[in-house]
Amino acid sequence: MNRSQLGAVAVGVAVVVGLSTMALFVAAPSTAALSTAPLAVKTQANLKWAAPEDPFASELEPVDRGFKLAKHCPPSFELTDKGCELRSLYQFYDSVQGRGVGGTQTSLPANRDGFSPQQIDLGRFLFFDPLLSGDGSQSCASCHQPDKGFADGKALSVGATGAVGTRSAPSLWNSAFLTRLFWDGRATSLEEQAQGPLYAANEMNNNPVQLLASLNGNKHYPVMFEQAFGVGGGITLDQIYTSLAAFQSSLISLNSRYDQYAHGNHQALNEREIAGLNVFRSFVARCSECHQPPLFTNNQIAVIGTPEPAGMALDIGAEATFNSAKLKGGFKVPTLRNIAKTAPYMHSGVFDNLRDATEFYTKGRGHAVPEGVEMNLHWHIWEPDLAEHELDLIVDFMKTLTDETAKPQVPVTLPSGLEQPILSTAADHFVPEAQVITDSVE
Ligand code: HEC
Ligand code: HEC
Repeated sequence: MNRSQLGAVAVGVAVVVGLSTMALFVAAPSTAALSTAPLAVKTQANLKWAAPEDPFASELEPVDRGFKLAKHCPPSFELTDKGCELRSLYQFYDSVQGRGVGGTQTSLPANRDGFSPQQIDLGRFLFFDPLLSGDGSQSCASCHQPDKGFADGKALSVGATGAVGTRSAPSLWNSAFLTRLFWDGRATSLEEQAQGPLYAANEMNNNPVQLLASLNGNKHYPVMFEQAFGVGGGITLDQIYTSLAAFQSSLISLNSRYDQYAHGNHQALNEREIAGLNVFRSFVARCSECHQPPLFTNNQIAVIGTPEPAGMALDIGAEATFNSAKLKGGFKVPTLRNIAKTAPYMHSGVFDNLRDATEFYTKGRGHAVPEGVEMNLHWHIWEPDLAEHELDLIVDFMKTLTDETAKPQVPVTLPSGLEQPILSTAADHFVPEAQVITDSVE
């Protein structure tokens, strides 16, 4: 897309927004059609595969012709003159304060958005490409797999060289809303965060010089970066971090059955699930004090005293980040969105299932804190004495927080020509349907 086309799109969308913001949701498909209308000219004959009806699909041309980046925003985003902007019904609700903690119709905190469709799509290729690791064996997706809620199903992640890490890979859903990243909150932006795994010896084990050399020396990436950033002259580290941030900010999950219930459709949850929600947000269980709707995190760090797996030393967590003994054993309150997909649970993956993770909270305040260790436990961690059936209800409720409608396509062919690591290790269940060549395209 060139700049004048972008301008034309922006004008079209601005008119619609001006008419009625609410209409935007009702008329989402036609708005999307309007915003993409000037861009509809496609070279169908050149397409190897694409899913034009899927707004997140890139138009992937035969490899010798290069990769064309998507011109459309992912689901939940609207293309405006600021780039792809998030649209959610939650943006119409009052502040959290106005409704009380645990209320269903509460507003969202600020989020990262405004990236162009091309930057988001470039980030998708980078995220899945093992070229980013030192030995070409591991991509971001190796540990953040779309089919596993963007976690990896392991208690502790394993790096490119086979080194076992010290923490569990968190989900990346709704990371657009995070103000602190990593379990101990040591990064403050997605761009800063990305430099952790890229260069850590026990993760992707790369270095900035090699990373730039391999991307700049690649046949396709320099052209793709030029498409995404509008400037040539060589790929920069900042462009790499920006694209990864753009892609990760597009992973929005706000349309689960719970959300339909929250927006007023009472049929969306059954009686057990509603009862579970009510236990979850009760002042007895207090889950929603920290796992606050709609994101099911309050974006804070809390000391709750989860156990370490047998044989592992105490992880002091945020104490190290903030150099504060009060935060010993403090971790970021994780989102519970798509939580049914991301077992095992907690920073160390110590609990195999949601039932065990929930039961932790009712086993007694500080029951897992090692003897002799001073921990400043959060005041909402107490002795709620939840009954067995109440724990089951909470688990049933948490399972309603699954929404993967914005799950991106896994690129089968990568610009690096390297094998897709997550396809090769999980091929039996990981053939993304949207990428199967359909008769509508060729
Ligand atoms: C070897 C496995 C592994 C690889 C590869 C990996 N990650 Fe991670 N990721 C983790 C683990 C483990 C954590 C938590 C580490 C911690 O908190 O100290 C994490 C944390 C994160 C977080 C913070 C999420 C949050 O809720 O705070 C983001 C964002 C993230 N990774 C993105 C990426 C990106 C982008 C890449 C590729 C450049 C990548 N990861 C590669 C394992 C991995
Ligand atoms: C005081 C704040 C607080 C309260 C109250 C709270 N949590 Fe948590 N929750 C956390 C923190 C912090 C973690 C991460 C702890 C760790 O990794 O050691 C967490 C982790 C979790 C996890 C694992 C998430 C993952 O991605 O691994 C689940 C599930 C969970 N909480 C459910 C609940 C339920 C159910 C309740 C109510 C019974 C509850 N929480 C109450 C702060 C809280």
